Amino acid sequence: MTNTDATAVSGSPPYYDPYDFDIDQNPYPCFKQLRDHAPLYYNEKYDFYALSRYQDVLGASKDWQTFSSARGTVLELLDLPAEHIPQMMIFMDPPQHDRMRRLVSRGFSPRHINRLEQRTRELARELLAPFQPGDTLDLIDDYAAPFASMVIGELAGVPREDLDIVRQWGEDNLALKEGEDAFQGAKTMAADADSELAAARRDVWAYFNELIEKRRREPQDDMISAVIASEIEGDGGGGRPLEDRELLDFIGLLSGAGTETVSRLMGWAGVYLPEHADQFAAIRGDLALLPGAIEELLRIEPPSPVQARITTASATFYGTEIPAGSKLLLLTGAAGRDERQYHDPDRFDIRRDAKHVSLGQGVHFCLGANLARLEARVALEELIARFPTWEPDIATAQRIHTSTVRGYRHLPVRL
Ligand code: HEM
Repeated sequence: MTNTDATAVSGSPPYYDPYDFDIDQNPYPCFKQLRDHAPLYYNEKYDFYALSRYQDVLGASKDWQTFSSARGTVLELLDLPAEHIPQMMIFMDPPQHDRMRRLVSRGFSPRHINRLEQRTRELARELLAPFQPGDTLDLIDDYAAPFASMVIGELAGVPREDLDIVRQWGEDNLALKEGEDAFQGAKTMAADADSELAAARRDVWAYFNELIEKRRREPQDDMISAVIASEIEGDGGGGRPLEDRELLDFIGLLSGAGTETVSRLMGWAGVYLPEHADQFAAIRGDLALLPGAIEELLRIEPPSPVQARITTASATFYGTEIPAGSKLLLLTGAAGRDERQYHDPDRFDIRRDAKHVSLGQGVHFCLGANLARLEARVALEELIARFPTWEPDIATAQRIHTSTVRGYRHLPVRL
């Protein structure tokens, strides 16, 4: 793969550290420096390359042959031995990836997902019911996170009373500890069988093992039962049921990917809409503007701003060759603000109607995209119907720190 643009590399070298909480607070000035002065960036400390321009992120996302997901898509996982890499489709290359995706994708078709609209609306209303105008609602903890977790729980077949354990684990699993070396810390946690995280993971696996056994004995009308009953194509043709570990990793992927990202998106909506009062008023006057606003939020503040890959062959960008076996970050968050792609990219404009890479591209394009869009639309429609506006309390809001999702962990809003 080759991409040459001799004019691109100039100026003082920018520095990007995905584990630096200060950069994470507002990475956009740094992302601009990368796009302008180091469109192929190399970080010596962690030994990774990074692409930040829209066209490069798009191209690399589509080229799974060169930019592999099979060693994981989270920087601190890439050095771990294979047995520590969960067997989730997001961490697989074709053909293994495609078999797994085919097995589950029926459950995510627009027809299946649209059927959930009424139920998601009921869940949103139920969560908002205790609140009155003048109250303070934690938009994440009281609304977005339980909502996303209830929706995915109902779809997958996880009983409501157990959702909190699963959600808490998903959050702990992603969280980076603040301190000297978040990278090493996160790696050790991922590989160390005695760590708190490993113990929590075992508890959640034990819980899901039991649930799988229950569904085997008594199948229900849910996705876990459907996946248990389906067969995946084997290597030599023919079919086989999924092994327990594959089932567990699939459920883990759904609960993690399905709740953390939607919660972050809702947090950004909670801040951006009242900040742009005229556009917010336009949405209130015409809810048909909401889907466009959700796409614009995804572009301007991608909940999942960094996707990691390993190169399987050498690749050349801007005259520099990166060897096979290199770690490469695709900076989705930088791509969404690329002035080569978007006019005035830092401006929030719900009528922009622009493509973005915030739900991925190519074979790993977000399986839950239809669901995420439905959830965000319904959750915002219901919130706006009850509380036409709100005031976020940024001073007491808290961010979540992970190397995969970015956004608010707590966002108190005055209704
Ligand atoms: C706003 C919400 C969401 C965002 C921003 C988001 C973002 C993404 C991105 C960027 C990818 C591609 C990762 C890569 O290329 O390495 C992806 C894949 C994926 N997402 Fe989402 N996602 C969201 C919601 C959901 C939901 C609700 C689910 C639900 C069940 C979900 C399930 C998945 C799965 C299973 C994959 C892997 C697909 C594959 O490997 O073929 N996502 N998502």
